[in-house]
Amino acid sequence: MRRYWQKKPLLIRQAIPDIVAPLARDELFELADLDDVESRLITHFRNAWNLEHGPFAPDELPPVKKREWTLLVQGVNLHHDRAHALINRFRFIPDARLDDLMISYATDGGGVGPHFDSYDVFLLQVHGKRRWRFGAQRDLSLKPGLPLKVLQHFEAEEEWVLEPGDMLYLPPHIAHDGIAEGECMTASIGFRAPSSHELTAQFLYHLAERAEEASEDSRGHARYRDPAQEPVASPAALPARLIERVGAILATVNWNEKDIAEFLGTYLSEPKANVVFDAPERALNAQKFVDRAKKIGVRLDRKTILLYDARSYFVNGEAQALSSTLKKWLPELADTRFLEAKRFVTLTDESSMTALLHEWYRAGWILLGALP
Ligand code: SIN
Ligand code: CO
Repeated sequence: MRRYWQKKPLLIRQAIPDIVAPLARDELFELADLDDVESRLITHFRNAWNLEHGPFAPDELPPVKKREWTLLVQGVNLHHDRAHALINRFRFIPDARLDDLMISYATDGGGVGPHFDSYDVFLLQVHGKRRWRFGAQRDLSLKPGLPLKVLQHFEAEEEWVLEPGDMLYLPPHIAHDGIAEGECMTASIGFRAPSSHELTAQFLYHLAERAEEASEDSRGHARYRDPAQEPVASPAALPARLIERVGAILATVNWNEKDIAEFLGTYLSEPKANVVFDAPERALNAQKFVDRAKKIGVRLDRKTILLYDARSYFVNGEAQALSSTLKKWLPELADTRFLEAKRFVTLTDESSMTALLHEWYRAGWILLGALP
């Protein structure tokens, strides 16, 4: 982290020795056929770049014998335990920064063209070989008129062929091009880094929503008033008084560190728009749930995002106070994503805990047992 993170590329040979692709090719194709999964097909047939968005029925994908196409499937960690276990190995970086695991499948010669990304990425070769070329070029201008971001001029400084288990880390804005040598699969562990613009817009939206909730409680809407308005001869002119008054209203908007933390916790733990939790079909009642959890523990569902700070916890977009009772177990569950049976037994006296976890279980946010 000290030497490379956000600074320079790093090739790690055999970062994960004996790696097995978390998904077989056909399992990846099945995911690409689902409505709630984001997928893209990039082809480079007859030297022309083309991009299509999924879902793709199996017969909508080009034949696997055809060269130069690639299928990219986003958020695979939300759908497969092995992919989820793989992204968990990258939790030496805070969850607040981790985005998702994308898996690309490419036929010989396939790739997405020379480009740069705005986010850090770990490119882990999970099947077959890929030739990566990359460099820290200044000129990041793109070819005009293409459906995807392809660099106008690309000059590589380094070139490596990655085999299964090898991994390349790239910080943002490094130009790169990865070309499959035979059929291959690459897992991209991606990060989120919201722009200042997005953070500002989302924070102001959060403040506005909070103010709305507060005014609904108190019914005390402070509305613009102008009892001293005189008749005017130039009705289209914006009154200086109006600007002044609105300035005074806006000056009352304020926030502190607690508001920023609450905003970040809810914003970063909000599931993506296409995420649906699967509630258990026949949920156990509270007593049976506790009995089971005492034997096999509980784990967070793959899709659940649970964050915390000193004051609050944030689960799937909701903020709650972190009481001293909750502090005994919630940060532990959030960090390890699991509460083992033994821990559960020592904590079952906390009826607030079992009630809360039973509620989460019924919502599909947690599951019984360890990650298989
Ligand atoms: C890929 O896996 O084909 C593309 C990943 C990337 O270059 O960002
Ligand atoms: Co890239």
